[in-house]
Formats: sequence, C-alpha cells, structure tokens
Amino acid sequence: MEERIAMAVEKFKLLIEEQLKRVEIMKTQKEFIKYEEVPTIVVGICGGDGIGPAITNQAHRILEFLLADEVKSGKVTFKVIEGLTIENRVEAMKAIPEDVLEELKSCHVILKGPTTTPRAGDPWPNIESANVAMRKELDLFANVRPVRVPEQGIDWTFFRENTEGAYVLGSRGVTVNEDVAFDFVVTTTDGTERIARAAFEYARANGKKKVTAVTKANVVKTTDGKFLNICKEIAKEYPEIELDDWYIDIMTAKLVDEKRRTQFQVFVLPNLYGDILTDEAAEFQGGVGTAGSANIGKRYSMFEAIHGSAPRMVEEGRAQYADPCSMIRAAVMLLSHIGFADRAEKLEKALDICTQTEKKLVMTGRDTGATSEQFSDYVMETVRSL
Ligand code: IPM
Ligand code: MG
Repeated sequence: MEERIAMAVEKFKLLIEEQLKRVEIMKTQKEFIKYEEVPTIVVGICGGDGIGPAITNQAHRILEFLLADEVKSGKVTFKVIEGLTIENRVEAMKAIPEDVLEELKSCHVILKGPTTTPRAGDPWPNIESANVAMRKELDLFANVRPVRVPEQGIDWTFFRENTEGAYVLGSRGVTVNEDVAFDFVVTTTDGTERIARAAFEYARANGKKKVTAVTKANVVKTTDGKFLNICKEIAKEYPEIELDDWYIDIMTAKLVDEKRRTQFQVFVLPNLYGDILTDEAAEFQGGVGTAGSANIGKRYSMFEAIHGSAPRMVEEGRAQYADPCSMIRAAVMLLSHIGFADRAEKLEKALDICTQTEKKLVMTGRDTGATSEQFSDYVMETVRSL
C-alpha cells in the first residue's frame, strides 16, 4: 500500500509542477491579438465528426459569401483543415494529432464542427476530448455562450472558464488502488482573473448592470472559494456593475423561474458548472442545436456549436438534413470577433427571419424538411434582401 500511495503522490507532484508552469506562461500573455493589425486573417475550417463536416461546410459557404471582398483584397483567407476525425485521433492515440495541431496553430480563428468525445465503454479508446484539448492547447480561456429569447425577456451571456476547473486534469485523475480514485479541480489566480475580467469588460461594453458569479463555494471551499473571492476583487474595478453571487444548485432552479430569470444578464462560472448551465439555458432558446459558442484566447479563438456530432444521423443516412443553425450562429460570433460586426449583424438578422418569423423552410432532421444546403441558400438569399 505504501508503494501505491507513493506512486499517487508522485503523479500529483507532476501535475502540480505542470500547473505551476502553465501559470508562468499565462503571466507572460497580457495582450489580446488585434485583428486590424493582422495583414491576413487566417480562418481555419475544421469539419469534425458525424454531421460536423456537413454543417460546417454550409457555415463556411456563408462566410465565403459574406467575406468575398475581404478574400479578394487579401485581408481574409480560409484554410480547410482535414483530419480532426475520431478515426485519425484514435490512430495517433492523441486528442489532436500533431500535424492537425500545427495547422490549427497557423490560423488566427477556427470554425470547428462537433467532434466525437469517447468515454469509457465506447468502441473507441478513451482518449481525451478534442474540444477540451483544443481549448487547452490554444489557451482558449473564455467560453462565451449567448442565449436569447426576446419574447420571454431572456438575454443572457455566459462566460464559462474554459481551461481550468474539473476539466484541465479531467483525463489525468489518479486511481490509487481498486478502492479509491481521485480527480482534481484546479483554480488559479491568473486564470480566474482573466475570465472574470472578460465577463466584466463585456458587461461594461454592452451596458449591462449585473454580473452573476455561480459557484458552490460553500462546499467546494478551496477552488470555488478562490474563484468567488477573485470575482469579488475584480468587481471592484467595475464599480458601476453589481456582482451577484449564487450557488450552482439554486441557479439551475432559478433559470426556470420566470420571474427571477429575466434579471440575470452576464454569468461568470467555473468550467463544469458552465458546461451544465449553458445546456440548460440553451434549452429555453430551442435546444443545444440552436446555440453557438465562442472560445476566446489572447492569440487564438475557436467558434463551434454546443451540441455533439450526432453519429446516428450519419448512420441513418440523414447527414444532409442536419440543422446548420448552430454552426451559422458560431459563424456570426466569428465575424463579429474578427471585426466584421456589420456582417455579423446581417447574418444574425437573416437567421432570425429564417428560423423565427418567415420560416419558408424548416429543418426536421430528415427528408420531411429542408437540407442543410437548401437552408443555407435561404439564409444567404435573406441576407441579400436586407
Ligand atoms: C461543450 C461540450 C464539451 C464540454 C464536451 C463535448 C467535452 O459538452 O462544449 O459544452 O464538456 O465542454
Ligand atoms: Mg456541454
């Protein structure tokens, strides 16, 4: 038993050393990239698994259409990156194969389709999620997820911490013996400060009056306690914005409370709570298929859908009927992030018309509705008419 304990302690020591190194790197990265100073913005297009390529291709077509002038002038270029498939990842036994990672790093921003995340018991070996790996490798620390249901007064923006918490060592837990296993949750000062600042900066820039921090600091005292305390510290830099503090359990309940939920505006929360709460929140808007997600870092950013790769649709031959809206929403966020807010606004407006008011075509996920291609044509036609 002594030997087992020593092995576990040795593993833990390594993890501590790695995390301390990560903090040192974080401390050197102060500034966000300025796209207006980048001669050519490289937009990577990464299809992913399952229905991923089908819906990502459509969002890519729309981006090419909206940025045709910038492509011509050389301000923007697209780079299709193949190979982030579960088959390739399993072959390399890596969450992201080396050559794919290199290509990703040659881009400024990436539009990424959903990727299959294996878990114990799947036919695939239990390798790390490509999403989680990409967020870590490219240091995409802010996962920004908007949810809007105007007719119900819902206008929320979630700032989910994306590189720490229960995720950062999620594939590196320690099994001491057959009776005991540990996972680790990591909260760092720099990591929390930067996500809290991102949330408050967003609130300030968008005239929001309240930021809500969501933790379980009464029970998960060390890491969540630290997260909450740092949010309180950062809040002092933004005296015009109120910091509101909730526990994750009651928060999940209050999102369903029609009277209370309209009072929330901006949320800041650790990784796992952010994962859970944003799925719940997206449900009010029409489900995870309707939501886009931005993963923002200081050097790189990645935009994706929040749903999975729907392998069943592919097996049943229905991939061409997959709803591309989530990827188009991700494209909206990408456009606005790299400085084309005008185009982003148009695309969002067109998407709202196509999905909410006009609805000339509907997606049903099968041949009773439109194909992803027909729907994307409809969106582009609508953009043209604006
Ligand atoms: C998400 C997803 C991922 C996550 C999975 C696929 C690893 O649920 O983007 O929310 O847990 O972050
Ligand atoms: Mg999730």
